[in-house]
Amino acid sequence: MLMFTPGPVSVCKKVLKAQEKAMITHRGKEFQELYKRVVGKIIPLIGAKEAHIITGSGTCAIEANVQNALPEGGKALVLSNGAFGDKLAEHCKLYYETIFQRLNGAKGWDLQRAKPHIDEAASKGAKLFAMVHHETSPGILNKIGEICKYAKERGMITLIDGTSAFPAYSLEHVKDCVDFYSWASQKAAGCPPGIAVVSFSSDGICAVEASPKRSNYMNLKGFRKKQAEKFETPNTPAISLICALEAALDLLLQEGHGKFMKRHGRMAKFARKKIKKMGFEAFVEKGFESNTVITFYTQKNKELNSLLQAKYSVKLGGGHADWKDNSLRFCIMGDLNLKKVKKGLEALEAAKKELQI
Ligand SMILES: Cc1ncc(COP(=O)(O)O)c(C=O)c1O
Repeated sequence: MLMFTPGPVSVCKKVLKAQEKAMITHRGKEFQELYKRVVGKIIPLIGAKEAHIITGSGTCAIEANVQNALPEGGKALVLSNGAFGDKLAEHCKLYYETIFQRLNGAKGWDLQRAKPHIDEAASKGAKLFAMVHHETSPGILNKIGEICKYAKERGMITLIDGTSAFPAYSLEHVKDCVDFYSWASQKAAGCPPGIAVVSFSSDGICAVEASPKRSNYMNLKGFRKKQAEKFETPNTPAISLICALEAALDLLLQEGHGKFMKRHGRMAKFARKKIKKMGFEAFVEKGFESNTVITFYTQKNKELNSLLQAKYSVKLGGGHADWKDNSLRFCIMGDLNLKKVKKGLEALEAAKKELQI
């Protein structure tokens, strides 16, 4: 099956194979070296002070970051423009009084739109600012750099859900203004699902140390302590998945992060143009388009995706959240290249004709 899905994604043979390595114990030199190597490869790519691998999905990493970000009695501001921003607010509400702002209609957040909300929340004492980097439900790339820079100027700790963003988008411009970031293995990194990465700036580290312990498993002070002592994790990690992530990072580094991102940009540009030419409307606001998720309207989304799978062995992402019943997502994540993208688009065009859309 040729997968154009928003995660899990197709995983290349080298990464799959890396999981087959003989099992090692997580309390031993071999694991310590593996973990240290992988974290060492992640940190320069992200530009963070510290990174930790959490065994769990993207949500686990987001919740870990959220619950380790503020002391008791803290107040948060969450800006959302889709289902995952809404969920981020739900996580924040578990621990903090949360101010929530929602932008509807597949529009993106930039500083102009965010500033009045940040100002108002800061004046009400909000100390945590949180939002999604790449809102996967319709594929919106929010301008987190300028927004987080401003939120920090207003005295807030910044927390970004980058689950479906990294490594398809650069974090170079945000490294000094994002205090907590997280992403998951099964999306743009092209790995199987099951692990996620949290990372912190210096302010993020101070925030972790100042926050109370709100859970045993996701206590990030525990992760920091274990890493500092021995480069281990507090509990048994998904060792095979860490091997897979190392293989994926090696492929990324071989290609070069810049080239990897440009390649995604080229594939997305090609796909967006073709989808438009077929007569579909890709509707995300101009200037906030994604290089990894292209969502387009179709009332026959379920029939189209079923036909694509049954006849062409091609699977697109279904519509999601506000666009569940009237859209499909052509996603460019995982083991894809321009040739495969062209094949997927040819199948889409043929299936469209067959269904007389
Ligand atoms: C932006 C974003 N946040 C959070 C999640 C939840 O991730 P997971 O299903 O790995 O817990 C997703 C999943 O698609 C996502 O795209």
